[in-house]
Amino acid sequence: FSTICQISSQQSKPPSFGIAFDIDGVVLRGTRTIGGAARALRRLYYGSGDLKVPFVFLTNGGGVREAKRAAELSELLGVKISPSQVLQGHSPFKQLVNRFKNELVVAVGKGEPAVVMTEYGFKNVISIDEYALCFDNIDPLAPHKKWGTMEVAVNRTRKCSINSERVQAAFVVSDSVDWSRDIQVLCDILRTGGLPASEEGLQPPLYFAHDDLKYQGAFPSERFGMGAFRIALESVFNSIHTEALKYTFYGKPNPVAFKNAEVVLKQLASSIYHDLNVENHVNSGSHDFQTLYMIGDNPVVDIKGAQQAGNPWFSILTRTGVFKGNHDSNHPEFPANLVVDTVEDAVDFIMRNEY
Ligand code: G3P
Ligand code: MG
Repeated sequence: FSTICQISSQQSKPPSFGIAFDIDGVVLRGTRTIGGAARALRRLYYGSGDLKVPFVFLTNGGGVREAKRAAELSELLGVKISPSQVLQGHSPFKQLVNRFKNELVVAVGKGEPAVVMTEYGFKNVISIDEYALCFDNIDPLAPHKKWGTMEVAVNRTRKCSINSERVQAAFVVSDSVDWSRDIQVLCDILRTGGLPASEEGLQPPLYFAHDDLKYQGAFPSERFGMGAFRIALESVFNSIHTEALKYTFYGKPNPVAFKNAEVVLKQLASSIYHDLNVENHVNSGSHDFQTLYMIGDNPVVDIKGAQQAGNPWFSILTRTGVFKGNHDSNHPEFPANLVVDTVEDAVDFIMRNEY
């Protein structure tokens, strides 16, 4: 009887908490799951496989469509993750679609940056891989680079009319694979008002998905992230140009990323509640969380972001990534509300606290 009462009381109102998981250094290192992540996530579902606790992945990483990332995560973690639960650094780029819908824009980074932008609604987007192929000798080091460009070379004739069209904006969607070429080609675009090899012109807008200086991958110590690439590009651009580089970046720790996560978590909470109560025709109404947990590994990104976002965010720092402090230590500048060893410990704490 008490079990029935507990279940029905859980079902009679939407959950008063939600969780945002960072990915790199918390759930994954490279392509390997860490910290008991799969076990931890399973606890957020009912035995039927339906979602019990609203949660999202709030990552600065990306380079693939949210649907593809959701499928990859579902496979790795063994639970059903929907595309709406994947918030990547570049996800806010879709808000700029009306401004650049039919304009020529260049998409930079690993994975499928142009496919991502096309999915967001940009109609005239080209990857920097394809764009560079349209200008003979734009990258003098290309003949010395051993990696292949076969796949992008296929589209060369179709796309190359764009070398007389001005680029209206550049979007750094994910980590640059070839810094030397991308810095060269971006400087060409930005210095000339979007037409490489022409006279100097007004700098087109430049957007970065995030500004992470470093992140935790599979290698034991941290790797350079998009913020490091931004520093390199900015330093070169400012050395060749009288006006300093202008740019905007999204992602954590920007409070907008946390606000957006809150909105999505509310929608998830309402849909869980709706699914459970649809037969009783109960209206979920507007939903407010008492606590939103951010589980991250990077103090200057995840913890700083949650702190800046304020109420109802509660930050949990793991020791599986960028933060490598000893037991009982916290980050001096951006101390988390709680420090734990792994993501599984974090979920354990949350479930004990909430149920
Ligand atoms: O490139 C990805 C990295 O900068 C951060 O990913 O999941 O730790 O926000 P994440
Ligand atoms: Mg991380």
